[in-house]
Amino acid sequence: MKISIISGSHRNPSQSEKVARHIEKTLKAEHAGIEIWLFTLADNPLPLWDQSVWEDDHAWNERLAPIKEQLSASDGFVIVSPEWHGQVPAGLKNLFLLCNRFQLGHKPALIVTVSNGDGGAYPVAELRMSSYKNNRICYIPEQVIVRHVEKVLNDDPADNDASADAYFRERISWACDLLLGYAEALKPMREKIKIHHEKFGNGM
Ligand SMILES: Cc1cc2nc3c(=O)[nH]c(=O)nc-3n(C[C@H](O)[C@H](O)[C@H](O)COP(=O)(O)O)c2cc1C
Repeated sequence: MKISIISGSHRNPSQSEKVARHIEKTLKAEHAGIEIWLFTLADNPLPLWDQSVWEDDHAWNERLAPIKEQLSASDGFVIVSPEWHGQVPAGLKNLFLLCNRFQLGHKPALIVTVSNGDGGAYPVAELRMSSYKNNRICYIPEQVIVRHVEKVLNDDPADNDASADAYFRERISWACDLLLGYAEALKPMREKIKIHHEKFGNGM
């Protein structure tokens, strides 16, 4: 079983990456043998999509090959997104332009959003509404919204609000259990059904 965690903040360091690394640690500690790939969009490792992506451009092929290899080998995903001006950061949306159904299709994904205040709902809505159509990523119904993120999931307990921190640690652990359950369940489904149809490459 392999899970890829995408940290969607361009900032370096960022609270989203802190949360992503906590999820990585949780999965490793609670689910022996699981393979994890954490990909951070800190400092914008990928240029914006351009037309040459669709023209077999050598530079793009070289840049994307290792990412596509990791995503293709994954059975599920955790998509961590901060709320930036009520939106998902552009770099994360760009990644969804660069990936397709062959890497993400019909695999479960847990949405985790991050806010230093009371936000975090808008990126959940945006991801559920507009990031799955052609790549067919399957967002599971459970999601985690890490509000007041600076007060939770810090290594030093003195930096945490003890009760909020305990709540998020427990909730993230349970959400990861659910994600892995969906990942197990959808694996045989992808083997049984013709999930890539030559006539229906894109979603409606
Ligand atoms: C450009 C920008 C816009 C932001 N807009 C919002 C927002 O609309 N709502 C919100 O709750 N937090 C907003 N924040 C604050 C983030 O919640 C905060 O930076 C948090 O740490 C998550 O972002 P990070 O993963 O980049 O650290 C914004 C931050 C940035 C950098």
